[in-house]
Amino acid sequence: MITFYESDHALSEYLLFHYGQRKEVLPFKDGPATALDYPARCVRCFAERIGYREGFRALDLGCSVGRASFELARQCGEVLGVDNSERFIECAQRLQSEGAVAYRYAEQGSYTREAVAEVPPDIDRGRVRFELGDAMFLRPELGTFDVALLANLIDRLPEPSRCLSRLPNLIKPEGYVVITSPYTWLETYTPRENWLDEAPPTDGSFLPPAPLCRLMEPHFGLQQVTDLPFLIREHARKYQWSVAQVTLWKRRSDPINTTESMAAD
Ligand SMILES: C[S@@+](CC[C@H](N)C(=O)[O-])C[C@H]1O[C@@H](n2cnc3c(N)ncnc32)[C@H](O)[C@@H]1O
Repeated sequence: MITFYESDHALSEYLLFHYGQRKEVLPFKDGPATALDYPARCVRCFAERIGYREGFRALDLGCSVGRASFELARQCGEVLGVDNSERFIECAQRLQSEGAVAYRYAEQGSYTREAVAEVPPDIDRGRVRFELGDAMFLRPELGTFDVALLANLIDRLPEPSRCLSRLPNLIKPEGYVVITSPYTWLETYTPRENWLDEAPPTDGSFLPPAPLCRLMEPHFGLQQVTDLPFLIREHARKYQWSVAQVTLWKRRSDPINTTESMAAD
């Protein structure tokens, strides 16, 4: 059975999600325009706090067709995008080498429309590399990074804790991890016992789910939390509008043993 992220359907949906122009994704006057350009906003949202620099090595885990990896390359000298979908990685590698890829996206019923996904020409594609890999079993030689982005990945992993437990060895002391997730836990992807879920707070507070904090806190201090809406177009008149929670974590110089304050370091 072909998994969703290896399908034609997913490839075209994610090319449009990452590279589609406003007139292609949301040609209506009304609509949630602030939810467009999600990969770029994932990179920008804590940029000031992170202080991206030329000397940075950045990791984009679950990079899909690579837009956030290219956006990271605006400021970071070296970016590695990793995904376990062969279709996505092949496509991201073509975008890296050629700068553009032609594709078709769904319009209505059996009708599709031609489009071209293009890496913004002001981005130095030479800074970016993509490789196939499993975020839960990353190869040991990846080295260390100043910043890692896990955008909408954790709720698509069978064992999110296995991926998160690798981060302390991947991130340099004082380095950052950005985790975005709408926490759409589904048994199709993650057995229920591995969900990092918790009843959302009803008092308007912004704290991330406790099981996520318990895994991150020994090695990372929570710095900032925000909400980031995103829009995935299914066809001309059907969309998924979701709101990811974005958490920014800073690698502690020394791990702590117990759950400490989640306030900024
Ligand atoms: C919901 S998509 C998010 C993609 C992209 N980060 C974004 O925000 O648009 C989840 C991505 O994680 C990838 N993925 C799922 N399981 C993975 C794993 N075990 N290792 C690496 N990537 C994985 C999928 O192929 C897909 O590209």
